[in-house]
Amino acid sequence: MNVESKGPVISKHGTSINPKLLAWVDEIARLTKPDSIYWCDGSQEEYDSLCQELIDAGAFIRLNPEKRPNSYLCRSDPDDVARVEDRTFICSQSKADAGPTNNWVDPKEMKATLERLYDGCMRGRTLYVVPFSMGPLGSPIAHIGIELTDSPYVVVNMRIMTRMGKDVLDVLGVDGEFVPCVHSVGKPLAPGEADVAWPCNPKNIYICHFPESREIWSFGSGYGGNALLGKKCFALRIASVMARDEGWLAEHMLIVGVENPEGEKTYVAAAFPSACGKTNFAMLVPPKGFEGWKIWTVGDDIAWIKPGDDGRLYAINPEAGFFGVAPGTGEHTNHNAIMSCRANSIFTNVALTDDGDIWWEGLTEDTPAHLIDWKGRDWTPDSETPAAHPNSRFTAPASQCPSIDPDWENPAGVPISAFLFGGRLSKNMPLVFQAFNWTHGTYMGATMGSEATAAAVGQAAIRRDPMAMLPFCGYNMADYWSHWLTVGGQVDNPPPIFRVNWFRKDANGKFIWPGFGDNMRVLKWIVDRVHGRAYAEEGPLGLMPRYEDLEWNGLAFPQDKFAEVMSVDREAGLVEARDHEVHFEKFFDRLPKEFVCEREMLKARLLRSPKD
Ligand code: OXD
Ligand code: MN
Repeated sequence: MNVESKGPVISKHGTSINPKLLAWVDEIARLTKPDSIYWCDGSQEEYDSLCQELIDAGAFIRLNPEKRPNSYLCRSDPDDVARVEDRTFICSQSKADAGPTNNWVDPKEMKATLERLYDGCMRGRTLYVVPFSMGPLGSPIAHIGIELTDSPYVVVNMRIMTRMGKDVLDVLGVDGEFVPCVHSVGKPLAPGEADVAWPCNPKNIYICHFPESREIWSFGSGYGGNALLGKKCFALRIASVMARDEGWLAEHMLIVGVENPEGEKTYVAAAFPSACGKTNFAMLVPPKGFEGWKIWTVGDDIAWIKPGDDGRLYAINPEAGFFGVAPGTGEHTNHNAIMSCRANSIFTNVALTDDGDIWWEGLTEDTPAHLIDWKGRDWTPDSETPAAHPNSRFTAPASQCPSIDPDWENPAGVPISAFLFGGRLSKNMPLVFQAFNWTHGTYMGATMGSEATAAAVGQAAIRRDPMAMLPFCGYNMADYWSHWLTVGGQVDNPPPIFRVNWFRKDANGKFIWPGFGDNMRVLKWIVDRVHGRAYAEEGPLGLMPRYEDLEWNGLAFPQDKFAEVMSVDREAGLVEARDHEVHFEKFFDRLPKEFVCEREMLKARLLRSPKD
């Protein structure tokens, strides 16, 4: 269809009767000038035929159906391999509302830039209309988005990652609300111009969010969170703004259900920055000594949490799939993740084995003698570069996860009984402690961080990543902390908040804590605290377990090692507390006043000797 020469473009495929949606698709088509418009119905036939088109275009390789049924390998442009935070913008009316941690551009100025960029940017391509629901269709906690994209790779990934297709249009109805999400790879084709396997425009990337009008515009990248707009852009950046306005929380958190041998189930939500084993924790397999215990996975990345009528907080996982980092995910380290991507999955930038399957560093204990690496080159264990890109991904349906919770699609959500915040710190931060109350816990989340890996100069600097939301909070971070305090005040008994750190090292630089399945021991103490069954001792940082408060069955972990992994160095604690002051300075008068008190209390507790 030649969009320019014909009248209003209302695709014959569309089943929508929502006039706002029809007018918007028309408007974007007039701007971007695609060759055709296709309304996605979300069917298996549609998915299969788009995957076939991607194979024909040289973008997908069908994997050996005996080893990896209905699955594909995709290799991106080597310049388009990750989220691009420095090209991510929060275009609120006022710069102060975006806050000091976000890139800001005036919305009018950004719209003018985008209009120039998008003018004709889909020439030679199809515009796909992708209706999707974040959260179970029709759930009161769910929200609808419509992504307009010129990338069939995005369409097939969105079908795994969200509830996508024509059922969403039925729920939307005539006057339903949706978040408009526009995406283009930014590579129009001139008449007769041959396409490339992974079109993109890496020198011109813009990932833009307009919080007041709740719109998303993404240009230039086809990869992950830059392009699958339901995930970070909608479910975190725009949803955090919706949550602020409507009294709920949109968090970068996994959700798990902990079931004890008596069948009691306790749900916890946990925030970890990247590279802290979040997926492993979301799919934890209890260790030896925990027979009869079970960890159920509700979500591995994002939680939408709303106060229920009974005064508790209820959470859903707004996603329907996992977009997991592949390297380091192995049969022994995360069996459930491996089972999740055993079929019906898309693998991006991993290596290809000689028998048509996939491989990445850490997948198996043995390294294959020969592979084709993520750039399509021959690879052997002697090669100097990794076979899979460090940010290579699997896109897998959550329903395939063996530990998926029977209630993971419950439209009402699951009740959250505890929150966990964790960073990666080799020194000073104990294995686990509990906040004294909600305000203290919010402070703990706001100051969390990980060691910056570039700290080659001895004293490791801490990169603060409040609530693991640094790249994902769609408004001023200080207002976000205030919002946390408000929500805590609105529920009857806000859940207890815990800080965890699996990464403490000894004097020889070795991890003290075994981690992985043994994190269950910490989780059990947390659950027992929730139910008032476990003891905790007051320490300068919070409420801490004693050695005898953790379950040691199945693990030889001597008391002196526990003392080491739990120890608090008061001097270092004071240095850290002073650093909180520096961290908070840039938020000026928007910083919750409670935080100033919390910091002073922390310092006072650290200064008071334990014998006083
Ligand atoms: C992710 C991230 O990809 O947090 O989930 O970066
Ligand atoms: Mn994430």
